Amino acid sequence: MEPQFWYDIWTERKIGFHRSDIHPMLRNHWHSLGCEGLDVLVPLSGKTLDMRWLASEGHTVTGIELDQRAVDEFFQEWQCQPAVHSRSDGLADHHSGNIHLLVGDFFGFRPGGQFEAFYDRAALIAMPEAMRADYLRKLASLVAEGGVGLLITFEYPDSEMQGPPFPVRRPELDAQNWFRVKQLERQEVIGHYAHLREAGVTSLVETAYRLERTTEPAR
Ligand SMILES: C[S@@+](CC[C@H](N)C(=O)[O-])C[C@H]1O[C@@H](n2cnc3c(N)ncnc32)[C@H](O)[C@@H]1O
Repeated sequence: MEPQFWYDIWTERKIGFHRSDIHPMLRNHWHSLGCEGLDVLVPLSGKTLDMRWLASEGHTVTGIELDQRAVDEFFQEWQCQPAVHSRSDGLADHHSGNIHLLVGDFFGFRPGGQFEAFYDRAALIAMPEAMRADYLRKLASLVAEGGVGLLITFEYPDSEMQGPPFPVRRPELDAQNWFRVKQLERQEVIGHYAHLREAGVTSLVETAYRLERTTEPAR
């Protein structure tokens, strides 16, 4: 999962992960998190329309995305011309309304403060197992104690596909100490993902979790 892998994904337009609607689990559960008015971090954001929904709900949204084309397309489709400036951490901030999309590596993101809310759909599961603890540690370093987020995962039989997306199961989430985990919804959704059916997946279980940042330091 080196950056080049994702640049190739965007070059070849293999973006079956991108949805043309707002994710139903976001609509179903976001308001139950209790994070009205808080700034929201969206790691590995792609050009998801979910950021527009979060912004329309009154949040200031900060998405982090490696690929410039994803960010350009996000603003073109929103029919907005972003203001662009370079940040001290080297990421390029594209800003319009209450949405900031930062082009660059999530692991190099160094904000001035911490976030109190986050939304992870297809970010943790975009990483192979060997990278996921590093991802969660980085996410934990960016989220203030007591901060909350919505995490959406996939599970499917390991033998049926090489990720991404990678299956992430509850025991793996319970094995980390940075976030308290509560399951909110679980659905069989293979009927909605033609590109994964075509890849040979016969069962795809999508789960939404509430994550709450614990006091455990993220070193
Ligand atoms: C599976 S897609 C999910 C996008 C989005 N969350 C969605 O739901 O449509 C993962 C995205 O993360 C981006 N990405 C991968 N590694 C990254 C990294 N280290 N830093 C920032 N973005 C990254 C990829 O370019 C890709 O657009």
